[in-house]
Amino acid sequence: MKRVITYGTFDLLHYGHINLLRRAKALGDYLIVALSTDDFNWLEKQKKCCFSYEQRKSLLEAVRYVDLVIPEESWEQKKSDMHEYHIDTFVMGDDWRGKFDFLRDEGVEVVYLERTPEISTTQIKQDLNTTQK
Ligand code: CTP
Repeated sequence: MKRVITYGTFDLLHYGHINLLRRAKALGDYLIVALSTDDFNWLEKQKKCCFSYEQRKSLLEAVRYVDLVIPEESWEQKKSDMHEYHIDTFVMGDDWRGKFDFLRDEGVEVVYLERTPEISTTQIKQDLNTTQK
């Protein structure tokens, strides 16, 4: 069984996220999503989520491509996650290209998938702001 992992915030789940999850799952048999906690988002990424960790987790668990959701609480956990969860393939969108190549030293395949154009949570938030005015 080939095990794949990806990391992210997945706030206001949108079709760009689903495209990413579908292609990530297709790279193996079991897909784990390490979902950024509210504290990690705020303290490390300066992102305030619309949906809480528990809400974002429930949404992801309802997606057929996702087998397990675990918390992402630090930048450093990736290395140990690869071993703890027996990961074969690490996947991220190509906005992160090159940033996690060091995980190849842990014996995992590192894949960056092309982002779906013209959609992001930031964009949705901005559009909502403009249309509400
Ligand atoms: N992603 C993607 N295509 C998009 C948006 C996101 O493939 N149009 C991927 C990202 O590359 C990442 C994962 O989905 O691997 C989670 O991304 P996240 O940062 O949570 O989503 P964004 O919509 O990019 O959110 P933000 O605008 O807050 O950065």
